[in-house]
Amino acid sequence: MRQINVFTEEIIMSVLEANHVKKVYKTRLGGEGVTALKDVHFSVEPGEFVAIMGESGSGKTTLLNILASLDTPTAGKVLINGKDYSALKDGERAIFRRNNLGFIFQDFNLLDNFTIEDNIKLPLVLAGEDYETMDEKVLPLAKELGIESLLKKYPYEVSGGQKQRTAVARALITNPHILLADEPTGALDSKTGRLVMDLFHKLNEQEGKTIILITHSNELARETDRIISIRDGNIESEEILKPEKYKDTDIDINNKEEKPKKIRKSRKKNKEE
Ligand SMILES: Nc1ncnc2c1ncn2[C@@H]1O[C@H](COP(=O)(O)OP(=O)(O)OP(=O)(O)O)[C@@H](O)[C@H]1O
Ligand SMILES: [Mg+2]
Repeated sequence: MRQINVFTEEIIMSVLEANHVKKVYKTRLGGEGVTALKDVHFSVEPGEFVAIMGESGSGKTTLLNILASLDTPTAGKVLINGKDYSALKDGERAIFRRNNLGFIFQDFNLLDNFTIEDNIKLPLVLAGEDYETMDEKVLPLAKELGIESLLKKYPYEVSGGQKQRTAVARALITNPHILLADEPTGALDSKTGRLVMDLFHKLNEQEGKTIILITHSNELARETDRIISIRDGNIESEEILKPEKYKDTDIDINNKEEKPKKIRKSRKKNKEE
């Protein structure tokens, strides 16, 4: 969605937009199928840190997969930086994903035959990065996540929380401007969860990364800018937690139920896109 700010004439564009997204999973035997998302409509602005909450089975992972163009909606569409990527061919979509998105899978999705180090490097290998650059990037990130001593091990040799931190490192290694994280602290103790959350805050506040975080932790969700609650495949409510980040916007921050329509917050880089 594009809009011109009448005062500054800057282009305002959502970084991510779910436009009336519906998802029905077909059953193998041609049965009725499962409607995981009914009509999900919202947008995320550049630099926002958004939490998605909801009961198990409410559709959170389905939504994140569709936002990341890992899965296609049955109806509706997803716009990233104002573009509909479902129109792209598979190969082009993969390249786009690699250049723009970091995705942390709920079940980690590590490759068993690759070391922790090679799992983290994988997106860079696919991007054709040279070995020297890859080595330079892996170590600081591994240190930040406390997994530098595990780099030569294989996923089956490390703990669940260490696998999860490997998945976080792999998502961040390409320095994506959008980070989609599906319960990235679910397997972590509170101290390590804190470490990951602090890293997300740093990326959001200092580098302006846009982050969408699925979490079952109310405590962590309340540290973000906005909580979107999903119930039975629909957005049930939205709550703005950092009103200061939303000033100069159309959003009535006193109305916690109101869906943000347009955030009149623009960054220079929007102009260039
Ligand atoms: N590949 C699939 N095929 C069929 N049904 C699916 C598939 N993936 C998910 N579902 C169903 O879609 C609904 C939403 O699932 P989803 O994984 O999005 O939930 P979730 O909110 O992420 O739950 P959790 O908190 O447990 O991770 C559930 O009823 C689930 O059983
Ligand atoms: Mg899930």
